[in-house]
Amino acid sequence: MSELVDVAGILDGKYDGQRVSVRGWIYNKRSSGGIQFLILRDGSGVVQCTLDRKNIGEKCFERVERLPIESVIELEGIVRVDNRAPEGRELSVDRVGLILESQPDYPITHKRHGVDFLLDNRHLYIREPKMQAILRLRAKTMEAARSWLVENGYTEAHSPIFTAAACEGGSTLFEVEYFDEEGVYLAQSWQLYAEAMISSLGKIYTIAPSFRAEKSRTRRHLAEYWHLEVEEPFTDLYGIMKVGDELVTHICHTLARERPRELRRLGRRPEELLRLEPPYPRITYDEALELLRGDGIELLWGEDMGWQQEEPLTKHFDTPFWVTHFPKGVKAFYHKPDPKRREVTLSADLLAPEGYGEIIGGGQRIDDYEELLQRVREEGLDPEDYKWYLDLRRWGSVPHSGFGLGIERLLMWIAKLEHIRDAIPFPRDMRRVYP
Ligand code: 4AD
Ligand code: MG
Repeated sequence: MSELVDVAGILDGKYDGQRVSVRGWIYNKRSSGGIQFLILRDGSGVVQCTLDRKNIGEKCFERVERLPIESVIELEGIVRVDNRAPEGRELSVDRVGLILESQPDYPITHKRHGVDFLLDNRHLYIREPKMQAILRLRAKTMEAARSWLVENGYTEAHSPIFTAAACEGGSTLFEVEYFDEEGVYLAQSWQLYAEAMISSLGKIYTIAPSFRAEKSRTRRHLAEYWHLEVEEPFTDLYGIMKVGDELVTHICHTLARERPRELRRLGRRPEELLRLEPPYPRITYDEALELLRGDGIELLWGEDMGWQQEEPLTKHFDTPFWVTHFPKGVKAFYHKPDPKRREVTLSADLLAPEGYGEIIGGGQRIDDYEELLQRVREEGLDPEDYKWYLDLRRWGSVPHSGFGLGIERLLMWIAKLEHIRDAIPFPRDMRRVYP
């Protein structure tokens, strides 16, 4: 056999006119006259392969014709540039090797299936080229984020998943059985531990699962999602927004350069990502209310922005944009009040355009002991539970800031997804832990 190559390499034009072999699963097939078109999928993409009855012989042709989809084969042939092929290139096959014949009753056909059926068969549905493209973008997103963070001097640091103190409010806590302890939860965020670790490690980040018992089913919420979080000492609100600007831009540019085919398959033009440049526009919460008022949408000052407000607000921008200085009442206890206007906080959310909304939440933390203790009490939390966190303000407390970025939220926007569940291979929500 000739050199075994991956499908992505063929589609990238690395082997035009050359003899190569590929190995993968038969995703789909059809025949017309003496020609069979096999759509072959490997871990890197899907490519059309053509088999001519005259070239490969009667027996082999018919053997392949009888193979059920998802059978595994190895094909050898010449890579041809052909505008009629779905990706502009195809493999003109002259040798076929069968590796494994699949069972004939693969449940996912190329007809339309209902959402629940596809979720029940998620272990198979992730093979679809659409899901393959999303998952490849997801992997590249993680890789690009890590490389930017490492390049810019951030150290990876890890926090526990079992925690005894709420970070983002009690309503979305998952309580778990933990030996004989009461009040043990799955982490909503690494943040409180991150604030301890910055005095050891300086600028840090993590990419890890976070858990939210979201009791409503929406297109934007998962019970388990991947959270990219950054925490940084000696940095204020504006410093941390700059980090968010550059990190998101770097991810977008990397995807546009290195995964253009996957983006196009999902309806995102890579050029739309390449033209993004930091800094992204910034408006205050008060200015956001003004814009909404202009659209005929009233939000009372002090109320949180939900989907109904974020969605129309995003129509005013064609890049991601920040909303800053949220009222104290809508943000968690640790947000630092603005010294110039104490009813608002030094907080910032980054919203994605095109109706997608919040992808980052963060800001500057309270660094004064008395102020933090007062906020813990005001929120009705037990200072005993936060004793260690309060300690951080007693010894060597410096101004510091951070944020959390929802990986699936970011991907949802980049890949133009209708629903957040398609941004993760095995989604978890209030109704689903199978498969
Ligand atoms: O805005 P949130 O709740 O902020 C925090 O957790 C901070 N402690 C982060 C920090 O400063 N280190 O969550 C951060 C981001 C949101 O902007 C959103 O992208 C994502 O996490 N997120 C969710 N993604 C999917 N499903 C959910 N249920 C999510 N809840 C939050
Ligand atoms: Mg938030």
